[in-house]
Amino acid sequence: MPLTDTTDRASPALPLDGQSILELAARSMFQLFSSVSQGMFLVDRGGRIVWVNEGYQRFLPDLGFSSLDQFVGRTVEEVIPNTQMRRVLETGQPVLIDLLTNKAGTFVVSRIPLRDEAGEVIGAIGIVLFDHPETTLQPLISKFARLQRDLDDARRELASQRSRTLGGDGERRAKYTFASFIGSSPAAAEVKRQARRAAQSSSPVLLLGETGTGKELLAHAIHAASSRAAGPFVSVNIAAVPDTLLEAEFFGVAPGAYTGADRKGRDGKFKLAHGGTLFLDEIGDMPQSLQAKLLRALQEGEIEPLGSNKLVPVDIRVVAATSRDLAGLVREGKFREDLFYRLHVLPVRVPALRERRSDIPALVEALGEDLALRSGTAPPELLPDALALLAGQPWRGNIRELRNVLEQAVMRSDSQSIDAAQLERVLREAGVEPAAPVAAVHAPEPDDEQRLLRPLAEQVAELERKAIAAALKAHGGNKLATARQLGISRATLYERLENPV
Ligand SMILES: Nc1ncnc2c1ncn2[C@@H]1O[C@H](COP(=O)(O)OP(=O)(O)OP(=O)(O)O)[C@@H](O)[C@H]1O
Ligand SMILES: [Mg+2]
Repeated sequence: MPLTDTTDRASPALPLDGQSILELAARSMFQLFSSVSQGMFLVDRGGRIVWVNEGYQRFLPDLGFSSLDQFVGRTVEEVIPNTQMRRVLETGQPVLIDLLTNKAGTFVVSRIPLRDEAGEVIGAIGIVLFDHPETTLQPLISKFARLQRDLDDARRELASQRSRTLGGDGERRAKYTFASFIGSSPAAAEVKRQARRAAQSSSPVLLLGETGTGKELLAHAIHAASSRAAGPFVSVNIAAVPDTLLEAEFFGVAPGAYTGADRKGRDGKFKLAHGGTLFLDEIGDMPQSLQAKLLRALQEGEIEPLGSNKLVPVDIRVVAATSRDLAGLVREGKFREDLFYRLHVLPVRVPALRERRSDIPALVEALGEDLALRSGTAPPELLPDALALLAGQPWRGNIRELRNVLEQAVMRSDSQSIDAAQLERVLREAGVEPAAPVAAVHAPEPDDEQRLLRPLAEQVAELERKAIAAALKAHGGNKLATARQLGISRATLYERLENPV
């Protein structure tokens, strides 16, 4: 058998010149992308959509278009919110992989510039590599969602610190009062009653509750309602300060104790809080070595700055908070029992959001207004099915988590109203499998007479949503049983859940 010629003369051979090979490779890759990707489109140099492949066409309804004609010919920003195609056209740089989020969902996308013979950018191609990355790329997406959340939290914290610093003296004032603690459920009323009583006393207060339940907010409110309101409110987040620096942070450093930056000495938080309230946040994270010193400072009302042998009297009121099981830490020998009892004079248990679901509509309204104020837009309006969905969630991150979910939903909705399907998507992308809606919670509703004077289709749709939510709840989220009970097909149920009328 001849070794030199392995090609069968009857079958087509690879072209041998470079240009033809390139063209072949380009054509093959284009066909490959076109068939494996979820969709592709082309824009011209001016950013106008000139072509959309078949796959891409199914995203059009979610983007708000009912026909291809409405889409093709428009500039890309007009029809695909948050797109970065313009950057690719301007810089000529491809973006091989990126996440794009807009009202149609979150997508893994690729953007590649197209050049002419002379190398000039004459257009670009957009490729949707994956839709629903929350299922195909679950670990990556939940990490992304978590980072995004942390970033949002950090930004908010920075903004509020800035505004406090700008207020000069305001830095050491309370940010919140009891009026800031939204909620009128029995559990919310009870925690406010206890905290108000605690504000009247001068004993230490211990705020116990899960993360994001409002412990810090209550600490501010207690200070603002106490006789020390005119004094400073100083907080230390014990978990955020490295153990080795905590002692100096608490008690300060005497002049000359160190060389360098601290040569002149520095006041500790105890001193800064003199005449006011010292908020010890995350007290459960207090290193054991410091617990004895803290106890002494609390008992004697005196502190000893590092590198000094003088005791300085301080007059402070302590409010401490933790989301950890402090009594458990005592049992395990990780938290001193004597310090525990010293702090446990007025314990206030802050309820989790799921213990006060009826507060959700009011919280949504307040958080929505706050978001609107920050972004300069109108507050979102949650449709009844969306509120029912929120009411059904376990909210492990409590109000902070609720706020993040709302913020994400607002970000990707281009209308003011938000429905359950949009929220479900946000929850899933945050790595949370949405629990069944709870129909019991409703926003305050206009009286019946008024409600009956609306278009019939709207009333029927509302009734449908309520019936579906109730049946889903009764069947613990089982969709087959729900569809059977309501006498509709499973396909119709899915359709309604995905696109509430
Ligand atoms: N009842 C409430 N009404 C309105 N906003 C609230 C309420 N409770 C908490 N928030 C808001 O929720 C967020 C979290 O609250 P906060 O920081 O007080 O929680 P925390 O219990 O200290 O949480 P962590 O243990 O994680 O520090 C804040 O933005 C706060 O303003
Ligand atoms: Mg806190």
